[in-house]
Amino acid sequence: MAKKLSRRSFLKQSAAFLLSLFGLAGGGYSYARFIEPKRLEITELDIAHELIPRAFHNKRIVQFSDTHLGFQYTLKQLEEHAQKIQSLRPDLIFFTGDLLDRPDNYELAEIRNVIATLEKLEAPLGKFAVYGNHDHGGYGTDLYASIMKKSGFQLLKNSSVELRHLQETIHLLGVDDASLGQPSLSQAKKSARAGQYLVLLSHAPDLAKDAAEAGIHLQLSGHSHGGQIQLPWYGALYTPPYAEIYKEGEYQVDGNTALTLYVNRGLGTTRLPFRFLSVPEITVFTLKSKQG
Ligand SMILES: [Fe+2]
Repeated sequence: MAKKLSRRSFLKQSAAFLLSLFGLAGGGYSYARFIEPKRLEITELDIAHELIPRAFHNKRIVQFSDTHLGFQYTLKQLEEHAQKIQSLRPDLIFFTGDLLDRPDNYELAEIRNVIATLEKLEAPLGKFAVYGNHDHGGYGTDLYASIMKKSGFQLLKNSSVELRHLQETIHLLGVDDASLGQPSLSQAKKSARAGQYLVLLSHAPDLAKDAAEAGIHLQLSGHSHGGQIQLPWYGALYTPPYAEIYKEGEYQVDGNTALTLYVNRGLGTTRLPFRFLSVPEITVFTLKSKQG
């Protein structure tokens, strides 16, 4: 135990030291304040599984998350990112929550422009979204549902949809947010059929263990922002509740199924307008069938 504590205090001291270096270095401040939040990384991953039907082979899922419009992240940035998403030739588009940073504070006149931008996104197999904590916060629950519906996104709140292509199917589930909503995997899974490939959208990544126990194969999440600020050789200084286990990138989580989890770092920022070693991200997943 003593060893553990001294290691922890060593890490704390190192973090404080690096943080003060970071604070003192004007270049680091400007980079974290003005440059990195405007950068963009496109992460591309192949997802292979024996339950992915042949009809879904090479289908492309584009996921974006955590825009937090209104806090630093502007409508213009959303428009640019929407164009980028479209240029990635998505068959499916997923938004994993936190559209507006503070729904009660967002300029209502701008809402129609948000809808007009999201409406332009096109994907032949559909556009789907789930709630994030900021979508519920600030009395946003109904506003978010209305924006997503008008933009052509189907909002999955403890519900699911069967995605059909050339007579073959996979099942897409979405749960409510873990911090401010009431997620229910069993409710979301009710209409899934045995033997189907199950994809889950959950704003909160830390539901992954439960999702693996529930037999989900692929979970896509956001929420963590990758911590927004990371230190070299240390990682994120802070991630919010429900993003404390899984902070960014790909994980394999064992349960009743071997679940693949991907935690997207999101596009915007919240609380502090900084990003350091946690570049905004759009993810592209290419499904690979192992059948025939
Ligand atoms: Fe967020």
